[in-house]
Amino acid sequence: MGSAPAGAGGVLSSSQEDGQQGKAVGSLVTVYIMGKAYEVPAEATIMGAIEYAGHQIIRGAGCREGYCGACATIYRLPGDYKIRTGLACMTMVEEGMTLAQIPSVPAEKAIYDIEKLKPNVTAIQQMYPTVFRCVACNTCTKSCPQGLQVMDYVQAAKRGDIAAVMDLSFDCVVCGLCMLRCPAEITQPLMGIMAKRLYGRYLRKESPELAERVKAVEDGAYAAEYAELMKMGREDLSKRYYARDSE
Ligand code: SF4
Ligand code: SF4
Ligand code: FES
Repeated sequence: MGSAPAGAGGVLSSSQEDGQQGKAVGSLVTVYIMGKAYEVPAEATIMGAIEYAGHQIIRGAGCREGYCGACATIYRLPGDYKIRTGLACMTMVEEGMTLAQIPSVPAEKAIYDIEKLKPNVTAIQQMYPTVFRCVACNTCTKSCPQGLQVMDYVQAAKRGDIAAVMDLSFDCVVCGLCMLRCPAEITQPLMGIMAKRLYGRYLRKESPELAERVKAVEDGAYAAEYAELMKMGREDLSKRYYARDSE
């Protein structure tokens, strides 16, 4: 078991008495959440463990299924010098883990008019010039819980290859962990969003199927279904969602 780390954070609010924990299920492990030791189920995710420990997550949780990127976590394991990164809803606890939630990584979003930009390196130079500070250390790639080749999309941005940035960053959930760890203080996910917008505005191929579907929506082809969904309660909506044909 590792020693308790110093400090305690403020993104979680205690919803139980300090030290009072939920009912034990199966075997337990000791983890250090924001500086305090808790016994939590060994099979819990970090998010589940935080809630089991009596905290309500008031910032930094959304989909709970690895899609929204709201639940960035940093942690260390006993005897391992490395800071590890993950999504709290997808990463399992381990004995002696010390962890902290990162509900938001401060970053300045560039403000631009997409109609005044072109899909080339000049747009990157103007809006995200820090990209050119990249020292190719690959820390961003190693930090990414989505397994993206983050450094590669940064390098593509330096070449002005907007299509490659779009492609390589497509599955980014904007958790912010890469920009938190980047020694050059680059805001990779925000730059990636701009590249995707540029791609959508200037480079994407026209899709007749999409145009047809949009027209059908505009013509009210799905109006009755929408109206039905809007009347449904949470439980019925949930059942309907999970019973759907997924791709
Ligand atoms: S590219 Fe960065 S912000 Fe996007 S998912 Fe990976 S680590 Fe998170
Ligand atoms: S962490 Fe920053 S400096 Fe290192 S490769 Fe990624 S973008 Fe470049
Ligand atoms: S809560 Fe959405 S990715 Fe974890």
